[in-house]
Amino acid sequence: MPRPLPTKDRTTRRLVLHPFRRRDADPLIAAVGDSIDDLARWLPWAHDGYGRSDAVRFIRDSSAAWAEGRAFDFAIRAADRPRRHLGNVSVWHTSRREEAGEIGYWVRSNATGSGIGTEAAARVVQVAFEELGLHRVTLRIAVGNHASERIAEKLGFVREGLLRKEVLVAGTWLDHSLWGILDDEFAADRTRYAAEGWVQRR
Ligand SMILES: CC(C)(COP(=O)(O)OP(=O)(O)OC[C@H]1O[C@@H](n2cnc3c(N)ncnc32)[C@H](O)[C@@H]1OP(=O)(O)O)[C@@H](O)C(=O)NCCC(=O)NCCS
Repeated sequence: MPRPLPTKDRTTRRLVLHPFRRRDADPLIAAVGDSIDDLARWLPWAHDGYGRSDAVRFIRDSSAAWAEGRAFDFAIRAADRPRRHLGNVSVWHTSRREEAGEIGYWVRSNATGSGIGTEAAARVVQVAFEELGLHRVTLRIAVGNHASERIAEKLGFVREGLLRKEVLVAGTWLDHSLWGILDDEFAADRTRYAAEGWVQRR
């Protein structure tokens, strides 16, 4: 049986990550609308005119996936400005037998460049290893997405290979690089994660 994951907020030095609730729809729509050009370059779900039905469906599916222990999506908010949606960060199981999972994220365009993506992703890496008990966490990044590659590097992921023409985005098949981090690598790096303010010290 999968471990149940409590629906509590997770914090970092600057951020609060909370499971989605119905009232997140409007801030989510605003953040996607402000970021659509950057999101639509890399992410298959992002489209012009993303609106209420998309956001409501996403939040409903997200709540169901959490309750079933399949996937865990968090809204990223600044601790000092909690109503403004800064982006999403997620962790989900890819194989229960192999205790493997994957993370994904996006940050609204006018909040990029200040470490939010790294900080939020680091916190869900901690959730993956210390709450879900995973053995291995992967991250797939479209070739050319240098900002996301930089996040992977900063978090200590290792580039493991190339997945050719893996995802269809706006009519084009994109290659993805595959990155991975193992439980013992995270444990060895945890002090640095804490020093950066991404996770709490033990
Ligand atoms: C990728 C994304 C999450 C980055 O968010 P962010 O909050 O700006 O990330 P951070 O500030 O934590 O780190 C970004 C790093 O990339 C670097 N970077 C940004 N643009 C870059 C570029 N064009 N080339 C190389 N490095 C770049 C930044 O300098 C920073 O590295 P540094 O801390 O060493 O200076 C955000 O731009 C985004 O959501 N993009 C669209 C969706 C997406 O790509 N999601 C990820 C799919 S795998």
